[in-house]
Amino acid sequence: MKNLFGGYPGARYIGTEELSGVTDIVNSRSPYRFYGLDLLKRTEELEALCSKRFMRGYALAVSSGTAALHTALYSAGVRSGDEVILPGYAWSADLMAILALSAVPVIAPIDKTLGLDADALVDCITKKTKAIITVHMRGVPCDIIQIINIAKKHGVKVIEDGAQCIGGLISGEPVGGVGDISVLSFQFNKLITSGEGGVVLTNDAEIYERARAFHDLGMLRMAGNADPEGLEGIKSLGLNYRLSELQSAFLIPQIDKIDMVLAGLRGNFRLAVESLRPIMDEFGLSIRDMIRDTSPNHAFLGLTAESKGSFDAACMKMKDLGLPIQKAGRIDGHHFRTWAAFMDREGWEYRLHKPEQSEEFLNRMMFLEIKSRIE
Ligand SMILES: Cc1ncc(COP(=O)(O)O)c(C=O)c1O
Repeated sequence: MKNLFGGYPGARYIGTEELSGVTDIVNSRSPYRFYGLDLLKRTEELEALCSKRFMRGYALAVSSGTAALHTALYSAGVRSGDEVILPGYAWSADLMAILALSAVPVIAPIDKTLGLDADALVDCITKKTKAIITVHMRGVPCDIIQIINIAKKHGVKVIEDGAQCIGGLISGEPVGGVGDISVLSFQFNKLITSGEGGVVLTNDAEIYERARAFHDLGMLRMAGNADPEGLEGIKSLGLNYRLSELQSAFLIPQIDKIDMVLAGLRGNFRLAVESLRPIMDEFGLSIRDMIRDTSPNHAFLGLTAESKGSFDAACMKMKDLGLPIQKAGRIDGHHFRTWAAFMDREGWEYRLHKPEQSEEFLNRMMFLEIKSRIE
């Protein structure tokens, strides 16, 4: 049974296809996206594949999910002093991207999905709110449709962070295909990976243009064209968040493998539930709740206990059996308590709404990472 559990879903499928992609770049001696000795334009190819797979008009490959978040917030118009709402359970990258723009994080409570609680959102919105980051945590979609409806009424942009839920579905749409701007990560422990990497997705041409400039030092460069000249050459603030041709060539076969990885996870998820059923029955654990008309990517099995007592007893039993459980309530880079402690130490401005509600959900849930492939 223990062999069913373990992370790194995409990495388990790395093989000759990725090697061949990288070898092509080495042979072309052109690892940079905009020019080379014999440029293969793999980054453009990757962007086209991402547009298709995630059903978006525009895809911009970037160097990480964190870079994608920073780019998304800037492109949504977030500037110094604006407020950005994020859920109390996410990843420190979501917080850091807000702070990097000198914006003010407003930490909102989560619901049973471990995503932002749509019902609590209105209380967090003020005249200063510019964007909402909503995160599909641990392989399960959050209540994003409801969140988008509320955001629209207040003229606020929704940034969908699908880093932990690539392959999930929301009313038939892929995760990454729903927010005003969506971001995905291709870091090592993601559904597909090139070690580092990310993508910004949108249907809005103006947002895409702003993102393209931000990820390339404020310029609007194209592969094969000369660098822009003249006083208008720099359009906006920007950093270097470009993805290399090496990583793009590595990711192209990974995109092709998404369905294979998902099928592996689905099968092993079923087996994991079957083998854990006796423990679940003994301690009254149930599979984590989801929003109607959504499906997970099965990379995580989330189990909820009815009370703190049964949760603690179940954790003890599972640890005795050598099962690699992770407590959702662990105080680490995913948890608002860790962020608040850091911001308090450094004197950052932030707001925290209903922390007890978030803790109520987090402290009764555990996860097991599902192996995508059993060798
Ligand atoms: C929810 C979430 N958002 C953003 C990121 C940031 O991605 P990266 O590590 O590629 O910067 C991660 C993970 O790494 C994540 O889990």
